[in-house]
Amino acid sequence: MAKALDLSPLKVCLVSAEVTPFAKTGGLGDVTAALARHLHRLGVDVRLFFPFYSITDTGPFELLADDSLRHVPVRFGERELVFSVFDARLPRTDLDVHLIHAPDLYHRPGIYTNDVDEHLRFAFLSRAAIESCQRLDWSPDIFHCNDWHTGLLPLYLKSHYAWDDLFTDSRTVLTIHNVGYQGVFPASAVEGLELGDQASLLDEEDLEAGRLNFLKTGILHADLLTTVSPTHAKEIQTAEYGCGLDRQLRARSDDLVGVLNGVEYEEWDPVDDPLIPFAYSRRELAGKEKNKQALLDELSLPADSQAPVVGVVSRLAEQKGFGLFPEVLPELLAARDLHLVVLGTGEERYEEFFRELESRDPMKVSFTNTFDNALAHRIEAGSDLFLMPSLYEPCGLNQMYSLRYGTVPVVRKVGGLADSVIQYDAETGNGTGFLFEEFSAAALRRALEAALDLYPNPERWQQLMRNGMAKDFSWDRQIRKYVDLYRRRGADEAK
Ligand code: GLC
Repeated sequence: MAKALDLSPLKVCLVSAEVTPFAKTGGLGDVTAALARHLHRLGVDVRLFFPFYSITDTGPFELLADDSLRHVPVRFGERELVFSVFDARLPRTDLDVHLIHAPDLYHRPGIYTNDVDEHLRFAFLSRAAIESCQRLDWSPDIFHCNDWHTGLLPLYLKSHYAWDDLFTDSRTVLTIHNVGYQGVFPASAVEGLELGDQASLLDEEDLEAGRLNFLKTGILHADLLTTVSPTHAKEIQTAEYGCGLDRQLRARSDDLVGVLNGVEYEEWDPVDDPLIPFAYSRRELAGKEKNKQALLDELSLPADSQAPVVGVVSRLAEQKGFGLFPEVLPELLAARDLHLVVLGTGEERYEEFFRELESRDPMKVSFTNTFDNALAHRIEAGSDLFLMPSLYEPCGLNQMYSLRYGTVPVVRKVGGLADSVIQYDAETGNGTGFLFEEFSAAALRRALEAALDLYPNPERWQQLMRNGMAKDFSWDRQIRKYVDLYRRRGADEAK
C-alpha cells in the first residue's frame, strides 16, 4: 500500500524561464507548468515565478497586477532594475502564477537572446523570485530551480541573501532538463551580479579561464540535483553525456536523482482530445485510421494511401539526432512505400534538409516549418510510427505521447527514451516500440526497417499499438517522487 503523504505546510517556490502555455520553446515549459499544477493539486503551497516576455502568450488570460509586488527595485552594481508582478491563472487549476514584468530585460524578440546582458536577464529572474518571497514574507521550504537560467539562485541564497532569516531553513533543488545548455558567459559578467564576497564560491577553473557557467554554479551549490529520467541521471555522470560537467556531477552523485517526467493525459489522450478530428482508444481503434486519412488530406498527401505514416515533431536541433537522416531517409523513401510527416523549427541545415526532401518527393514527404501545437496532436493521432533518434534525450515527451496515441515509437535507446519505450519482441508479442543503441545511420536504418516490416501484419501491429496505449506515464505517480525528495532533503538537513 502506498504510504500516506505528509503534506503539512510544504512550500515550494518554483522558478523557470518557460511555462506552458505562456511562454515555451520546448519541454521545459511543459514540465514546469505540470509540476506547479500537480503540486498544487496535492495541496502543496507552490508559487511559480517566470519572466513576462513581450512574446508571452497572454491571449486568453486575465492578468492582474499583484499589489504587493509593484515597482520592486533590484540593484545590480551601478544599475537599479525594477520589476512588478502580474498574476495569471494556470489553465486547469485555480492556481495563480507570477509573471515578472521588467520590460527593459524581457521585451526582446524572443525568450532567449544573444544580447550582451543575457546573463543579467536570468540572474535577475533568480533575484526577482527571492525578492518576491521577501516582500511576501513567505519562507519557502524549497526553491526549485530549472536549468541554467536559474543556476545562480542557490548561490544567491548563500551570498547576497545569506543575512535573511526568512531563508534559514530553505533548501534548493535544481532540475537539469538539458545539460547541453549551460549559460556560459565571460567572467567579466560576474561584476555587478551582486554575488558579494561569495563570488569566491564560483568555480575557480572557470574564472581563471575567463568564464562564468550558470549551470555549473547551480550544480555546485544546490542542495539536491535532479534530472528528468533515471537513465539520464547516470549518463550525465559520464564524459560522453556530461557535456563537460560530468566531474562535478559525479562529485555530487549522492545528491543526484532521476525522476521521469509525466504526461498530461488531460491534454494528450485520443479518447477526448479536442484537437484531433476522431476520438479513439485502446479498445476502439477505428478512429485512428480516420485521423490518418484526415492528416494525409490536410497535408496534401495522397488521401487514400495505405502506406505507413512516419511522424516527426521536434525542435530541429543536433540533440534530436537529425544528423543521421541524410544517410537514411532519402534511400528509404526511394525504396519503400511510406510517408514522412515533419513538424518543427530549428537549425537552418535541418530545415533545409527537410525542405529539399519534400520538394524531391511531395507525394511522400510533408514538412511544416512552424511550431503548431494543434498540428502536433493531429500528427500524433494520424501517424503510424514516430521517429526520435536522439543523440541524447534527458526525458523526451513526444515518445510518451506517441505511446498513448498508438503511434509506435522508433527511438534511440538513450536517456528517457530508454526508460519509456520497451523493445518489441516478435516471439512474445511484448514491447512497445523499436530501439537502437549505437548512434549510427546503420543502426537507425535497421530499427526503422524492423518497424516497417512488421507494419503490414495488422494483428501484430495492433497488439504492439495496444501495448503502448496501455502504458501509464501520468504525473500522479511522478509528482509524489518530487514531494518525497523535498521532504527527504528536509530530513537530511535536520540530522
Ligand atoms: C528538455 C529535454 C527533454 C525533456 C524536457 C523536459 O527539453 O531536451 O528531453 O523532456 O527538457 O524536461
